[in-house]
Amino acid sequence: PRPLYLDCDTGIDDSLALGYLLASPEVDLVGIGSVSGNIDAAQGAVNTLDLLALAGRDDVPVAVGAAAPLVGPFHGGAPHVHGRNGVGDVVLPPSGRTPAPETAPELLLRLSHEHAGELRVVAVGPLTNLALALRADPTLPSRVRDVTIMGGAGLHPGNVSPVAEANIAGDPEAAAAVLGADWDVTLVPLDVTMVNVLEESDRKTLLESGTALAPWLGELLDLYFAFYVTTFGRRCSALHDPLAAAIAVGGVTPTVAPRVHVEVDVSQGPGRGQTLCDLRGLYAGHPDQAGARCRVVLATDRPLAPHLVERLLR
Ligand code: BDR
Ligand code: CA
Repeated sequence: PRPLYLDCDTGIDDSLALGYLLASPEVDLVGIGSVSGNIDAAQGAVNTLDLLALAGRDDVPVAVGAAAPLVGPFHGGAPHVHGRNGVGDVVLPPSGRTPAPETAPELLLRLSHEHAGELRVVAVGPLTNLALALRADPTLPSRVRDVTIMGGAGLHPGNVSPVAEANIAGDPEAAAAVLGADWDVTLVPLDVTMVNVLEESDRKTLLESGTALAPWLGELLDLYFAFYVTTFGRRCSALHDPLAAAIAVGGVTPTVAPRVHVEVDVSQGPGRGQTLCDLRGLYAGHPDQAGARCRVVLATDRPLAPHLVERLLR
């Protein structure tokens, strides 16, 4: 299995991504960093530790990351989407563990040395920790195999503004630094995450499973399903973070994923947080751009939900 570092703002769909990665024999989860996004980084670490304990994986180090974005204060999270505690206001059994003594950027840098050339990075929250790690050591990309990011919108509308997606909007300056660095990045934007949906029947399957973690994930999803009624007109949820995890692991394969230049709008105007993906080549059928390092996933080979549920029931 390949070593994988997960950076997340746990978060209901982050919890699904974590469960998926723990159930994936292709990867070895060697460390997790928390970042302020859906909730503050400290609470995100607590949630992550609690979920790991439920899964019997107290061996995975969890480090607290950035409390606030590179510029400006933390906006306070998304309690209307993920609950006041980030996990749908469900009270998870406390793990009794404390986070690692290092920060999330320090953990990422340490793992990049221990697994030089092999480490995969999956980031499903704002990109502050990755940007801080790059700032501390600009040679980081040379030791990382690849980076998979849930974030942005290619040709799709945003979800926190007409054009911006939450993870990029949470720290546009960090996103600009991470997407501008010299590593192999796969961006998993709303274009594909909004068309991968978990239904009430899937949630029921999780709730009724005899495994340690899946019924809890089913419980967390209750609030998330309620939030998505305003978007989809029924109780269900988009599968943002688990899709990034599945693409990183190879459980889902991108079928349309041009490698293009991506810029992030860091202005203070209405475009702030937009990912400007240069997809003009799609018209000519030759979307890849010379020298571009970022793959923008626009379509995948199969729906995530059945594959995700199957793994979560392992
Ligand atoms: C992203 O924002 C967060 O609310 C989710 O966890 C996901 O990472 C979707 O825009
Ligand atoms: Ca997230």
